[in-house]
Amino acid sequence: MGYAHDYAAAIMQRGRVPMPPVDFVPNWSDGPRKAKYYPGVDSLPLPAADYPADASLDRAFGFADSAPGAGEFDLTSLSGMLLDSYGLTGRRLGVQANTDLSALPFYPLANWSRGSASGGGLYPVSVYWVSGPNGPVTPGVHYYSTRHHTMQRLLTGDVSGEVREALGGYGANTDQYLVLGIKYWQNSFKYNSFSFHAVSMDLGAAVQTWRMWAGARGLSVEPAMWFDEARLQKLLGVDGEEEGVFAVVPLKWAQGQASSPTGPVSGDVSVRHRDIERSREVFTFDALLKMQAATSEHAARRPAPGALAPAAAPPVNPQLPLAPLPAARPMPGDVRTVLRRRRSSFGRFDASRPVTAEQLAACLAASSTGSRLGGDTGTGTGTGVRLAKLYAFVNHVEGLEPGAYEYDPDARELRLVKAGRPGEFLQRNYFLSNYNLEQAGAVLVPTVRTSAVLDAVGDRGYRLVNATIGAVAQSVYTACSALELGCGVALGFDNVSYIEELGLDATGEAPLLIMMIGNERPAPADFRYEIA
Ligand SMILES: Cc1cc2nc3c(=O)[nH]c(=O)nc-3n(C[C@H](O)[C@H](O)[C@H](O)COP(=O)(O)O)c2cc1C
Repeated sequence: MGYAHDYAAAIMQRGRVPMPPVDFVPNWSDGPRKAKYYPGVDSLPLPAADYPADASLDRAFGFADSAPGAGEFDLTSLSGMLLDSYGLTGRRLGVQANTDLSALPFYPLANWSRGSASGGGLYPVSVYWVSGPNGPVTPGVHYYSTRHHTMQRLLTGDVSGEVREALGGYGANTDQYLVLGIKYWQNSFKYNSFSFHAVSMDLGAAVQTWRMWAGARGLSVEPAMWFDEARLQKLLGVDGEEEGVFAVVPLKWAQGQASSPTGPVSGDVSVRHRDIERSREVFTFDALLKMQAATSEHAARRPAPGALAPAAAPPVNPQLPLAPLPAARPMPGDVRTVLRRRRSSFGRFDASRPVTAEQLAACLAASSTGSRLGGDTGTGTGTGVRLAKLYAFVNHVEGLEPGAYEYDPDARELRLVKAGRPGEFLQRNYFLSNYNLEQAGAVLVPTVRTSAVLDAVGDRGYRLVNATIGAVAQSVYTACSALELGCGVALGFDNVSYIEELGLDATGEAPLLIMMIGNERPAPADFRYEIA
């Protein structure tokens, strides 16, 4: 058994047995930037990009007649997808229940909003664009600067062959790739050993934003998570312990397809620019170093098709009482608009208006469909394995008795696991003070059989488990935005209590996130400050 098993167990237990270093206090005044900083590089401004009004969230999830994913990216659509996911689109100034509230009006401490959610709002995913001669710019490696919405040129020359070789046959029919790194310090300065758990979810949230954004308009985003990671770290000029490479997305490109590998494939070429760290003091954490080592050791050993089958989510129990759901409320809003409206509720739930059963049905369907990451993960819809199972703690939903339910994604109905108002249980097992969980209409909880995934595909499977949960989180956030519901997700809860409450011991399911959905207090104080 690899280290990822131990890490997974420690994460589950951490509400009862704190993970070392227990006395760690973040040095806020010496924190890192929320992006990488490459001084002196050239910047390529990205074009303004429209978004089709009929590219609805229902289409993104395949709930409405969807466009086949045969479209081709160009610079404009790439620009739009990056802006709407990780680009800065506005400033958060609404009054909410987080402890950072008093800092928000100060410009140097401004909190900029983005389409994707991210644990702690730290946004540690670095996006690199590796483009060969079929692209619109001189071939090279660019870093997407979220602050400027520009591409910063890190290397000039065609190195797309390096990525193609690293992918070992996946996504070979193009010379345009998005490579996603995670710069750990950007998150670990705050979350230390817990960091790996959070950032691997952030990765899934970012990729799922792209999958929805692209899928709704007939483009496809199919991520690879298994490839020669060390080779890509070398290409990007990053330290193997400081920045992991978590995913590669080959882009079908408009100006033609590379028929044969191009660019040098020597394995020797490397970006020479270096990110300049803002923090004077950077710490490393044992658990994080070990997780990077364990999950990258056999990074190129892509699991065989079907390898995940033994780790599939357990079926619902047909003996449990049935609670039918109505058809999901439609989500006709276009994906860009709903991403711009997306935000965390942070304490603004108000149960005086219950959630409708149609809204709940839509959130559950979106979460379930959104959990299928596709690409080389073996989890795509169709022949892929469904890893995530969903539970719903119902507080205030029209036509549904309060209680804990499990969700049947095929029949789109609920089964009652435990009757009774769950509010007291939910609040008792939440660590932070920024939400009153009882005021949410429902709290959705995705589970994955983490140990079974690790047994099936090795330690790198931890990244897949958490990317799946991140994708579910982003799906439910975006669905709530379309359904005019408030939403918030949180990792700060006692996982073991949820295992006990839902009786998950026998199946080995790990409850990995809580996702609150509900109506908010009317007209909460806010200040509009859109920048995109
Ligand atoms: C994987 C993940 C974990 C999160 N965990 C928490 C949490 O424990 N508590 C919380 O209040 N918010 C949590 N969030 C929400 C983020 O804090 C939020 O997305 C971020 O601050 C940006 O704010 P916004 O969602 O309003 O854009 C989490 C988000 C993600 C994607």
